[in-house]
Amino acid sequence: MFLFNAWYIVAEPDEVAGGGIVARTLLGRRVAVYRGASGVLVGLDDFCPHRLAPLSLGTVVGDGIRCAYHGAEFGADGICVRVPGQKAVPPRARVRTYPVVERHGYIWIWMGDPAGAADESSIPEGFWVSGDPAWIGGYGHIESIRSDYRLINDNLFDITHAEFVHPESFGGVEVQYYRNARPGAQFVDQGMTFEIGDRSIRFRTHAARLGLEGGPLWRSMVAQSRGVAEWNEPVDFRMEVIWWAPIYTSFHISVRPADEPDAAPVEIYNLHAAVPESETSSHYFYRSIRNYGDPSMDAMFIDAANFVFHQDKPILEGQQAVLGTRDLLDTDPISFAGDRLQLEGRRILGRLLAAEQEA
Ligand code: FES
Ligand SMILES: [Fe+2]
Repeated sequence: MFLFNAWYIVAEPDEVAGGGIVARTLLGRRVAVYRGASGVLVGLDDFCPHRLAPLSLGTVVGDGIRCAYHGAEFGADGICVRVPGQKAVPPRARVRTYPVVERHGYIWIWMGDPAGAADESSIPEGFWVSGDPAWIGGYGHIESIRSDYRLINDNLFDITHAEFVHPESFGGVEVQYYRNARPGAQFVDQGMTFEIGDRSIRFRTHAARLGLEGGPLWRSMVAQSRGVAEWNEPVDFRMEVIWWAPIYTSFHISVRPADEPDAAPVEIYNLHAAVPESETSSHYFYRSIRNYGDPSMDAMFIDAANFVFHQDKPILEGQQAVLGTRDLLDTDPISFAGDRLQLEGRRILGRLLAAEQEA
């Protein structure tokens, strides 16, 4: 089940540079996205109404697109403007188009009720950091992971798995806090608080003097920012996570040596988007952005993010293989204390899906 009335990331800007046409299946529909000569972004169904050749095999001409098969040309509004070798253009010769915008360093598409596209509130405001040049970083993208987007949401909500799946990076004592999360908006030492909104969930963890029992990544952030091989002194750790329905998650991690309360914090944002491709697969876009180091470190960060995600991938794809086309919650699974927020996220999603079906 897909939520149609939402903005979805469809491409990275460099994929549509220089006349590039992106072909991608989103929400079970094949779409093509390109940038016209005037700079306008165009999204449309990826098939020609003549003999259904994918338009993404064609060529950008001005702000329009020319089909690779028999050369029919369509304007940015999807209306056919030219059929080679004949004067008349068949009146039904048009392609469905979709609103497309560029925000926060990504290209987004709206595939729901066209009347709702003007409302950009489903573009997560917390992704601003990926469009801000003061923050540096890199991005990655897994074209198709054989896992429903909801399993990926669940995974990002539940970091208790880090102790077992990511022991050399995220897995530290702080993942225990997920099991005793309580409502609130404060950073609580050695604990987690959360706030549930209409379309979002926000949670925070904090540990005032986190030593070797904490996630190894926090100490390596300090070491990297200071150009030293390792950092084994205690750190003040805080993390704020925000999930926006239906598929966007931001992790903001801030670390500072515990004995240097005046030092500037070393910060990272990890942004995740699990864009539904089909009922059982997703496109996975992510960014790793930080406030320290120089761009030559970007590749290392993206390699590290890739490494972590490839630790999750076999589990997510394995879950989907077991589920087939069933939804996880329809199998009546057992739940643990650390599952609370993912169940809340599923509840929000379920409510939005039900409201959209009703409308
Ligand atoms: S299939 Fe596109 S012009 Fe024939
Ligand atoms: Fe993970």
